[in-house]
Amino acid sequence: MSSSADAAAPLRLAVLISGNGSNLQSIMDAAAGGGINARVAVVISNVADAFGLERARRAGIPAMVIEHRRRSRDAFEDALMNGIDRHGPGLVVLAGFMRILGAGFVRHYAGRMVNIHPSLLPLYPGLDTHARAIAAGDSQAGCTVHVVTEKLDDGPILARAVVPILPADTPETLAARVLAEEHRIYPKALAEHVRRLPAIGTGAASG
Ligand code: GRF
Repeated sequence: MSSSADAAAPLRLAVLISGNGSNLQSIMDAAAGGGINARVAVVISNVADAFGLERARRAGIPAMVIEHRRRSRDAFEDALMNGIDRHGPGLVVLAGFMRILGAGFVRHYAGRMVNIHPSLLPLYPGLDTHARAIAAGDSQAGCTVHVVTEKLDDGPILARAVVPILPADTPETLAARVLAEEHRIYPKALAEHVRRLPAIGTGAASG
């Protein structure tokens, strides 16, 4: 039996972003280099001028803007769901996506959506994680990759990385140290998670 007959087809990923997209970049690079048995099928941003969109275009990956402004949360989430599902992904990857998603949306992708959060969860869900860790006098900070559930920044943990908090740290210097770890662990956690997922989202999308 040839090994190619045994190899699973690459999983299609939909990556959701709101900003710079440096995590997206690390995921695209890992997928392109064979480090994740997946390919980024679409990148969607809720912010029109997010630099991550440009990163996607440079990589030849379809990039879409679905703005949350000027529409209700339900209408935004319906549009987002449509945009994602048109590309038939097997996994939705939140990479610096700065909107809280409702229960219906999360249930639609139950077990098929992951996030990276810049703290050592369960510490500091939500915003301003680095400032909060420094203010609390913590000696360590870090980042966590987890499966998305209905509770914000909760859900089964797939990977974590720990960094020291140094006496002179500001939220910015700490964020930079944590971000470097995000770029290291997110592709690795995705590679392992993709290996464990049942094979859906590997075919061609209809749209
Ligand atoms: C990351 O620290 C992510 O964990 C957080 O926002 C930042 C996004 O960075 N929620 P980027 O857009 O991936 O560069």
